[in-house]
Amino acid sequence: MEVIIQDSAVESCHLAARLISKQVRAYPQSVLGLATGSTPLPLYQELIRMHREEGLDFSKVTTFNLDEYVGLPRAHNQSYFYFMQRHLFQHLNVSAEKIHLPDGMADDIPAHCAAYEAKIKEVGGIDIQILGIGSDGHIAFNEPSSSLASRTRIKTLTEQTIADNARFFNGDQSQVPRHCITMGIGTIMEAKVNLLLAHGSGKAPAVAATVEGPITSMVPASILQHHERAKVFLDEEAAAHLKLHDYYQWVYHEKPSWQKI
Ligand code: F6R
Repeated sequence: MEVIIQDSAVESCHLAARLISKQVRAYPQSVLGLATGSTPLPLYQELIRMHREEGLDFSKVTTFNLDEYVGLPRAHNQSYFYFMQRHLFQHLNVSAEKIHLPDGMADDIPAHCAAYEAKIKEVGGIDIQILGIGSDGHIAFNEPSSSLASRTRIKTLTEQTIADNARFFNGDQSQVPRHCITMGIGTIMEAKVNLLLAHGSGKAPAVAATVEGPITSMVPASILQHHERAKVFLDEEAAAHLKLHDYYQWVYHEKPSWQKI
């Protein structure tokens, strides 16, 4: 795992955006895996700026989102489809037919999940997957104890995640859906590059367990230790519990110029 620590969340996201822009400029038909939540917002804002001011072209890019709530229609203002339109897609020139999110209203959820997996394979897999991390170490909606080999499927949200996400539903936990469709950990592990972003002190214990703890389904993100190209972008607060904090800083600053982002 490569750990890249920046002073602030914005700096960290700008660096991650630079990596994505390099990928999209080099391979305009790139396949990007996207996340929702608060964490990637400064990254999305930077991609939008690059599109507007630097001509970064997304017209040939294909996207797959990690997850979606079951039971929320796409037009619902808390669906992840709505979130992505509002915070990213409506500001870029991604073709509507190249945007993929699980459909939380699918009649046959297992068939829909299998088709989602097949579609990712059909386009050649995900080139760069963006990930946030839950305070319990979840990635996508793969909560602790999820199979490390899991594929796209329905999951039941934990009470903790329902409580965390109630802030988006006027603080009313009863409004938060109980189920979601999520890419599996096995699905995420097949992305060619995984970029995990984490900001703020609330994420520090989960980040330390992910990067320096044992690999365990109790901290789903820890499986990224097994990924060939996993990069962890942190601000100082999220990095605060890392034992090898200074070593990661040293490695980053001593990178040969050809390896710099
Ligand atoms: C969202 C997702 C989740 C979030 C995680 C962190 O698509 O997959 O795993 O990345 O819950 O959420 P935030 O960024 O809001 O702290």
